[in-house]
Amino acid sequence: MNSDFTSWLGLSAHDKFDHMKPAELAQKFEDLFGSRPRIFCAPGRVNLLGEHTDYNDGFVMPCAIGFSTRVAISPRPDHRLVIRSEDFPEQLEIDLDHLPNQGTGVWSDYVLGIAVMLKEAGHPISGASLLVRGEVPIGAGLSSSAAIEVASALALMSLNGTRLALPEVAKLCQRAENEFIGARVGIMDQFVSCLGRAGHALLLDCRSLEFKLIPIPDDIRLVICNTMVKHEHSSGAYNRRREECDEGVKILRQWYPRATALRDISLDQLQDHKAAIPETVYKRCLHVVSENQRVLEGGKYLTDGDVQRFGGLMRDSHVSLRDLFEVSCKELDVMVEIAGSLDGFCGGRMTGGGFGGCTVNLVKSPAASQFAGQIAERYQAATGIKPDIYVCAAANGAGAD
Ligand code: GLA
Repeated sequence: MNSDFTSWLGLSAHDKFDHMKPAELAQKFEDLFGSRPRIFCAPGRVNLLGEHTDYNDGFVMPCAIGFSTRVAISPRPDHRLVIRSEDFPEQLEIDLDHLPNQGTGVWSDYVLGIAVMLKEAGHPISGASLLVRGEVPIGAGLSSSAAIEVASALALMSLNGTRLALPEVAKLCQRAENEFIGARVGIMDQFVSCLGRAGHALLLDCRSLEFKLIPIPDDIRLVICNTMVKHEHSSGAYNRRREECDEGVKILRQWYPRATALRDISLDQLQDHKAAIPETVYKRCLHVVSENQRVLEGGKYLTDGDVQRFGGLMRDSHVSLRDLFEVSCKELDVMVEIAGSLDGFCGGRMTGGGFGGCTVNLVKSPAASQFAGQIAERYQAATGIKPDIYVCAAANGAGAD
């Protein structure tokens, strides 16, 4: 066993950052700003089933994970926001009377966007110093952006005693990402960052925001495999997928005028009108409609503790994302294929928006360490890229530290 191998094994999300106690962040904050902060924490996520369904008013089944972003905050008397991060050198300083309408493509947009949305929604905003510590790998498809948004929202709200139910916090954060950052994402990431529960997957109806927490059996680990690639133009491709889905709905409304999203279309209805739909649009629709079914079916399997059947649906989901929605890539496919040949594997697929990022695998606990080592070795042999492997369990959603 080489030393790299032991470091992969050590990469349980919880263990890796255990030493980064909030007290240390508080001390750092005090050294920088001269006051004692309050600290808020929000996790990243991994999605088990239901990809590219959230913005089609459909169903998703993510979990929060043990990688979190922490935001330390204390009030300032000068009506300014001063935002710093441990990961980036630039500091943002801005007068609250001159908040911009849109981000400028820098990391602090994720904090500033929340302040802007709170203000727009009529909530009080006052001067504050903030220090961000991010543990969620950036650009890996594990929702580092939702984590910083949600932690910032709780932090900024705390200064003025603003009370919002967590689903409302999630909606506000999504709005910041849609309107301030300019990414047309759905509600999944922000919602599970707010409301995830340790040991559970969260089955969410993205239209009604009703949700159900489903226990993940104790003997299952989530093994997240980071391909370490992020392909160019992924946000443009994401938006194009959304447009293709919308185009499908527009066509199908000729026969189903009450349909407002692909959520309202059944598989039979879609298939009945195949001839009227351009081929690419049809493939996109077929993915979304069948993926929604998989989530609902998967919810039943997981509730019954039937991980094998659930895992089968994860594999189907990957095939559909690869062949119909076309958001996978060579590296993700290689990672999924290797996983399927290893001991302890119950199911796995690409997770998140796609075009790179991570796969998620359900693996029997006793086999998880060996699985992590073997998949890393084989992926590196196949692609020449050394992956990061995280052995995780589902974690709790956001809160005060
Ligand atoms: C990204 C978005 C989510 C969702 C996924 C795909 O993570 O932020 O809203 O659309 O892609 O399922």
